[in-house]
Amino acid sequence: MQMHYIKLAKAAQYRSGDYTVHSLIGKKIALFYRDGSFKAMEITCKHQGALLLTDLRGRLEAERLTCPRHGWQYDISSGECLTNDTAPLKQFPVEIRDGEVFIGFEMG
Ligand code: FES
Repeated sequence: MQMHYIKLAKAAQYRSGDYTVHSLIGKKIALFYRDGSFKAMEITCKHQGALLLTDLRGRLEAERLTCPRHGWQYDISSGECLTNDTAPLKQFPVEIRDGEVFIGFEMG
């Protein structure tokens, strides 16, 4: 598997707690900036596929995402599902290059 990186955003545009939502390779992926670092993860609920965030940009103070449909909860730092431990959200590697945020995808 080879890793390919896609440029998503300028790092300087994020303050702690900010997130943006992106449509990439057929998935909805959120980029979170918290405590000085970026995380990228899929935001489609593992229960029945509802979107965990509906705004394209926002600010999140909570440590958890709660599904608006039936309330499953996910830890933002790890992607772990707190309601069903067999259903974590997929995370993607993040790199900062010259002030730009890239996320990585494995492509075979
Ligand atoms: S679709 Fe998310 S909890 Fe049911």
